[in-house]
Amino acid sequence: MEENFEAGFPTEVVKEGEVRILVPKLEAFVKSPSDYAPSKAPVFYNPVMELNRDVAVLALQAYQRMVDRELSVCEPLAGCGVRGIRFAKEVVGVEKVVVNDINGKAVQLAKHNIELNGLGGKVVVQNLDANFLLGGYAAPRKRFDAIDIDPFGPPVPYLDSAVRALRNGGLLALTATDLASLCGVYPKACIRKYGGKPLRTEYCHELAVRLLAGCLAVAAAKHDIAVKIVFCHSTDHYIRVYATTEYGAKKADESLKNMGYIMHCFRCFHREPVKTLSFFDVSANCRECGAKMDFAGPLWIGKLFDKEFCRLMEEELGKRSFRLKRRIEKLLGLIKNEAEAPITYYAVDKLCDALNLQVPSVKKVLSILKRNGYSAFLTHFNPKGVKSNVSATKMREILRKIVDGNQ
Ligand SMILES: C[S@@+](CC[C@H](N)C(=O)[O-])C[C@H]1O[C@@H](n2cnc3c(N)ncnc32)[C@H](O)[C@@H]1O
Ligand SMILES: [Zn+2]
Repeated sequence: MEENFEAGFPTEVVKEGEVRILVPKLEAFVKSPSDYAPSKAPVFYNPVMELNRDVAVLALQAYQRMVDRELSVCEPLAGCGVRGIRFAKEVVGVEKVVVNDINGKAVQLAKHNIELNGLGGKVVVQNLDANFLLGGYAAPRKRFDAIDIDPFGPPVPYLDSAVRALRNGGLLALTATDLASLCGVYPKACIRKYGGKPLRTEYCHELAVRLLAGCLAVAAAKHDIAVKIVFCHSTDHYIRVYATTEYGAKKADESLKNMGYIMHCFRCFHREPVKTLSFFDVSANCRECGAKMDFAGPLWIGKLFDKEFCRLMEEELGKRSFRLKRRIEKLLGLIKNEAEAPITYYAVDKLCDALNLQVPSVKKVLSILKRNGYSAFLTHFNPKGVKSNVSATKMREILRKIVDGNQ
């Protein structure tokens, strides 16, 4: 099939999951070592996002099992179509997929890839602006069961039209790649786009997820739609948030109760979530050391994972032979473990740097915390991260004792 298709630029066939996809031959578009190949090619394809797509397949299948019905799915920013084509081929119960891209060359390639995988009756292609496309599906009975927004940078410009184009109880998946903004390198950009202030703390990746989740909850509430965050992850250069939505003004009010702030003390590492940030709180002093505290938010301070959703994803992974299976197993294992853990985490290496201590193993810190009666969890957000109910003062004390050999 690929022999008969003239893309007009160098291409190659790659295998991902259970599909074969004709993609731009990325080496052909790199002119200097600093070039980011996927964005230089005439159609977007990023092999590094395979894990993102694998996890999206698992999440969609978990969702399908939870709702137990045939699904219509939309991928409004599809590039060469790989993600939507994988949904159609690999997720049992997917009835129809609409893939769309504003780039005409992407649409031609996606059409070819649909035929290459024999999915002509199941996957349809459109060539519209994503918001225009989603607007056409906002009426009752036209809406999708699931929408996956995977753009360059922030997904924020598509949130309103995406929640409106989702049926009651639908699943929304979001990628954000603008981590420099979300992690506080460009705070003004984060406030402008996400409506919340970021902070350059050691747990900034969790804050990034919470800022995106919060931004979604606020956008949905304007349409009397509530959100529930069922899964999220922070991997490589991006974050992903998966949420289900539900219609109802009262439910939307309830979902907004998950909004708040996280106060942080840069002197002693104390942090705490607060529901409302009054003028008094903004200028609050740290309850542990008395220094002036900073804050992140407004953001989502509620749950980030639904345990049953995570369990179903893990079960689905067991049935599949993804190339990155081991890596995803590890990711899902960590997430299952941290699903009920306290908000934020201590990064053992960052704390030890600040305290001028040698860095002990995270395993050791975990076991000493537990021996002292505290909760202690690893986190997928950071390999040196520990989630715990221990105070910052006690945590510093414990680290010193471990390094001195007194624990
Ligand atoms: C990150 S790429 C998508 C990658 C794809 N989802 C995947 O998993 O391989 C983003 C895509 O959005 C498309 N795009 C950018 N702005 C758009 C818009 N306003 N409407 C529709 N597509 C758009 C670009 O042409 C590009 O193909
Ligand atoms: Zn303090």
